[in-house]
Amino acid sequence: MAAGSMYRVGVLGHGAIGSVVAAQLAAGSVEGARLEGVILRRPNPELEHEQLGIQQALERCDLVVECAGQQALREHAVRILFSGADLLASSMGALADPVFAAQVQAAGPGRLSCTAGAIGGLDLLGAAARMGGIDQVLVTTRKLPATLVQPWMDAQRRRELEHAISPVEVFRGPAAAAAQDFPKSLNVAAAVALSVGDWEAVTVRLLADPAADLTEHRIEARGPAGEYCFSMKNYPSPRNPRTSGIVPWALLHSIQQAADARR
Ligand SMILES: NC(=O)c1ccc[n+]([C@@H]2O[C@H](COP(=O)([O-])OP(=O)(O)OC[C@H]3O[C@@H](n4cnc5c(N)ncnc54)[C@H](O)[C@@H]3O)[C@@H](O)[C@H]2O)c1
Repeated sequence: MAAGSMYRVGVLGHGAIGSVVAAQLAAGSVEGARLEGVILRRPNPELEHEQLGIQQALERCDLVVECAGQQALREHAVRILFSGADLLASSMGALADPVFAAQVQAAGPGRLSCTAGAIGGLDLLGAAARMGGIDQVLVTTRKLPATLVQPWMDAQRRRELEHAISPVEVFRGPAAAAAQDFPKSLNVAAAVALSVGDWEAVTVRLLADPAADLTEHRIEARGPAGEYCFSMKNYPSPRNPRTSGIVPWALLHSIQQAADARR
């Protein structure tokens, strides 16, 4: 992009996250950036934004913002990066697959970055990891039970979640498995693992809690640099209770930073 020109952004996916990102870009709320168009699976005649095919988007965008899920990231990431466009991902749990992660690593000249999404503290965790490594990180996520039901769960597990009257531990294990088993709910585990550069160091505990009107992520980490504890409680998106309402705003913050860096 030439210095001084607008940063052209394409939005992949138009659900709870993508619709807010697209609307805010279209309204001009990110200085120096504009919405080039949205990339949908199927055309939507009612949508007010220009709709682009993926090839068209790659010809016209400096940045594609993925708001469409891990499968969509898998489908499009390498092609986007090879086209020279940058890619800002929401669904970085897909990078738990080492084969896909290696393909993305090898792709370019576009650059991949990941949103902090629903959590904070990643800069400090990254610094601590760089200083002396992180010995251990525990991410505890607490969400409403209905948002955690997965297609692979058996009927008994589903019933247990649907009728829970107190917190139920749904998962405890490594970050990579968490991001793969709960692809719409535990991208935060991947964000932490990517920040500390070590998937093995991160353990995830997932609680289905009928009292969790706010989605909570608690990150506890320790290593030679110190001991850290961050707790985030986000209201769910009104459009998708699996997603925290803050996530599109985290993406918009990153888009603003990227646009500023180019001016
Ligand atoms: N990093 C985080 O903190 C965080 C938090 C919440 C969600 N997420 C990720 O963001 C994703 C989107 O969340 P959401 O709440 O907006 O979901 P959503 O279901 O409301 O919207 C997703 C939209 O993407 C569209 N889509 C799916 N595949 C597509 C494709 N190949 N091309 C174009 N569009 C496609 C769907 O039709 C849908 O409209 C989640 O699946 C999750 O992976 C990340």
